[in-house]
Amino acid sequence: MTLTIEELTTGTDHERVLLCRDPQAGYRCVIAVHSTAAGPAVGGTRLWTYATEEEAVTDALRLSRGMTYKCAMAGLPLGGGKSVILRDGNLTDREALFRAHGRVIESFGGGYMTGEDVGTSPTDMAIVRRETKHVLGVTEDPSPYTARGVFRAMSAAALHRWGSDDLAGRTVAIQGCGSVGFHLARELRAAGARLVVSDVDPGRVRRTVEASGARAVPPEEIFDAEADIFAPCALGGILNAETIPRLRVEIVAGAANNQLLEEADGELLQARGILYAPDYVANAGGVIFGCQELLGWSAETVRERIEGLHGAVLDVFRLAEKQEIPPHAAADRLAERRLASLAHSKRAFMS
Ligand code: NAI
Repeated sequence: MTLTIEELTTGTDHERVLLCRDPQAGYRCVIAVHSTAAGPAVGGTRLWTYATEEEAVTDALRLSRGMTYKCAMAGLPLGGGKSVILRDGNLTDREALFRAHGRVIESFGGGYMTGEDVGTSPTDMAIVRRETKHVLGVTEDPSPYTARGVFRAMSAAALHRWGSDDLAGRTVAIQGCGSVGFHLARELRAAGARLVVSDVDPGRVRRTVEASGARAVPPEEIFDAEADIFAPCALGGILNAETIPRLRVEIVAGAANNQLLEEADGELLQARGILYAPDYVANAGGVIFGCQELLGWSAETVRERIEGLHGAVLDVFRLAEKQEIPPHAAADRLAERRLASLAHSKRAFMS
């Protein structure tokens, strides 16, 4: 075995950041644990091609902090972490790679638990499971639960903006017909909404059009679609100085992580009068579903908590209005408030 683990100093507020290598297994991974203040850290394993190791570290730092905030806003007894495996050329031996990853996850002793993410699948997580039990999502796809949460967030935004959370007759433009986008389209169709969809994969567009009666547009045209709501369900960074001026919607609510390219883009949306349901509040359905496996929650508790995202999003909008700040900043403030009160009660308990 050639596994080495190096502790990185990043100058950020992360509890631990590790660079793990196993050359024999073709394994190079950054694991960032942002916070375990609320409970064990959770966060998926991303497999991606990065230009540099620094870029992978930056991604892991950002995504793990996002997980802490997501769990805090969903009121879960969990903290935030993330694994980022650097993809080097052709991946020939997934078994060796994910077994190496499993050994590293095991070394956290349950303090950090992972699951699938961009570039990884339940099959990969089943390999991780051979080395550690601290892995989630091997059995059931969380995407329908994430989609339901996004739907609830969208309804809350509609209520705040239009005074009714009924989405019947509203037009929703969905970017990305993958796991979440597909299920979201079906939820919206059942609620009587009209749909415009796009994906770079024509097969996925076809499947979604068939299931939801959506109108398809080429990927680049989704930003210009005339609709009431835009739902980003593909990539991060798609709300930016180039795309925001093109939007012809009143609400943005979707599943993609890190939708705003920069903080200033949240202000740009606000200036254009577009109501933004912050990504990590809207897309918490998947991690809430994970609590069934992780914390033994019943299916009913999971369902109630996901429906409750409606209220969480409304809390964000109310604080944003009260403090005259954009919703993305209000969500950060609420999450930080919750984390600070956790740290406070922990200190009080220890003294
Ligand atoms: P997925 O990989 O199944 O679907 C993403 C889809 O976006 C793919 O069909 C892909 O072809 C498409 N796509 C890529 N570039 C595109 C472009 N330029 N224009 C249009 N479509 C494009 O991923 P999944 O699971 O549906 O997740 C979607 C987003 O939601 C991701 O950002 C993910 O991180 C986030 N998310 C997913 C959760 C889940 O439970 N699956 C939970 C929380 C967040």
